[in-house]
Amino acid sequence: MVKASDFGSDFLWGVATAAAQIEGTATQHGKGPSIWDTFTAKNGKIKKNHKLDPACDFYHRYAEDVALVKYLGFSVFRFSIAWARILPNGRGEVNEEGIRFYHHLIDECLSQGITPYVTLYHWDLPQALEDEGGWTSFSINAAFNAFVTICALEYGDKVKNWIVLNEPFGYTSLGYMLGIHAPGKTGLTNFFPAVLHTALAQADGAKILRAEVANANIGTTYSCSEIIPYTESDNDVLAAKRIDCLMNRLFVEPTLGLGFPTADWDVLEKFQIEYGTWRLQERMKFDFDFVGLQNYFPLTVKYNAFIPVIQAWEVKAKSRKKPHTAMGWEINADSFYNIVTQFAAYPAIKNIIITENGAAYHDKLIDKRVNDPERIEYFKLYVSALLKLKNEGVNIAGYMAWTLMDNFEWAEGFTARFGLVYNDFKTQERTIKDSGYWWKEFLKT
Ligand code: BGC
Repeated sequence: MVKASDFGSDFLWGVATAAAQIEGTATQHGKGPSIWDTFTAKNGKIKKNHKLDPACDFYHRYAEDVALVKYLGFSVFRFSIAWARILPNGRGEVNEEGIRFYHHLIDECLSQGITPYVTLYHWDLPQALEDEGGWTSFSINAAFNAFVTICALEYGDKVKNWIVLNEPFGYTSLGYMLGIHAPGKTGLTNFFPAVLHTALAQADGAKILRAEVANANIGTTYSCSEIIPYTESDNDVLAAKRIDCLMNRLFVEPTLGLGFPTADWDVLEKFQIEYGTWRLQERMKFDFDFVGLQNYFPLTVKYNAFIPVIQAWEVKAKSRKKPHTAMGWEINADSFYNIVTQFAAYPAIKNIIITENGAAYHDKLIDKRVNDPERIEYFKLYVSALLKLKNEGVNIAGYMAWTLMDNFEWAEGFTARFGLVYNDFKTQERTIKDSGYWWKEFLKT
């Protein structure tokens, strides 16, 4: 049985959250609307037409929630700053109440002995900026840089650990190519400019932090999935390679000075030529102190000529009769091991932190208890794979479970529960799940 102490005493154990998913108070206390407020206001976009507000009412309950992080035994709390709470119009006038809120939250963490890891962008773009084109518009970069500068100057004395972006591939693909997430845009003509401006933002933001925050530990996060060809046929192997370029390599390689992975997918070569991205390669570089990896599933892919551009298709875990979570995501700790190994092989990556990993199940609160043995099993498997990576010399500095409490799971609304703590969305009563207690015991070992 793996013990927390096997990882060494300086290993970081944390829980991760994101502003839009928990805070609520979306339109009060000076906050401007974000693209998620607009998106969820439209019927038919979110499961059961769930609305974003009040989510977990974290805005008012943050002190109790930080106390829960502490009670469970974690030493790190990852949260994000809602851009539109600081700058209701995306740029310009600052909302002092918003500034104060994050001071209080940070102070609460520090006074409880919890280290804050602060994400600057976890998908909740101010709507005012989306009205100018959002991530597709060149104007986003100056606005983002101004926002980062404000946060760095305001909180940099107290917060040393920063994450510039949360999963750039997640929001550019789901929000600007597939239209499943806010702002609901589709097509490559939205996706590619969003990719370019995002790749610039991740390096620009990091450089601002480096300049403004003394002794900062600067990272950014990437979603990652092992991509497994369905068969060994050339067609399937090449399809897997294309998906790997898109899902795993697209954003990390520009920061490492490698540019976009054009050699392995001709569509990226065309993007590079059309948008002249090679001219910006120097600006996209940054020597991050750590890279945050977030893993939820591997992807098994098959060649399919009928799928435009990518010509690949996922063969779902369910149809392959593989164990999966309530999201339909395959449970496969070996694939977690493999994809972290893939990232660790880039010589320029100095340190890795697993900044998200977790599972959704159909939890039920019965007699004030949530019995979730599947989630416990899930964490046991992934923590064992993590130890194997560490023992083999991969430079992993920490692990953050997704997520502290059940919350607004984007397009799934409140229907997908990922928390270690159950939330009753009517009463906002929190109940620690058995998996939360499992973590508490594990962290003592
Ligand atoms: C995101 C989280 C999300 C989780 C589960 C990650 O991609 O960063 O915000 O809730 O996955 O879907």
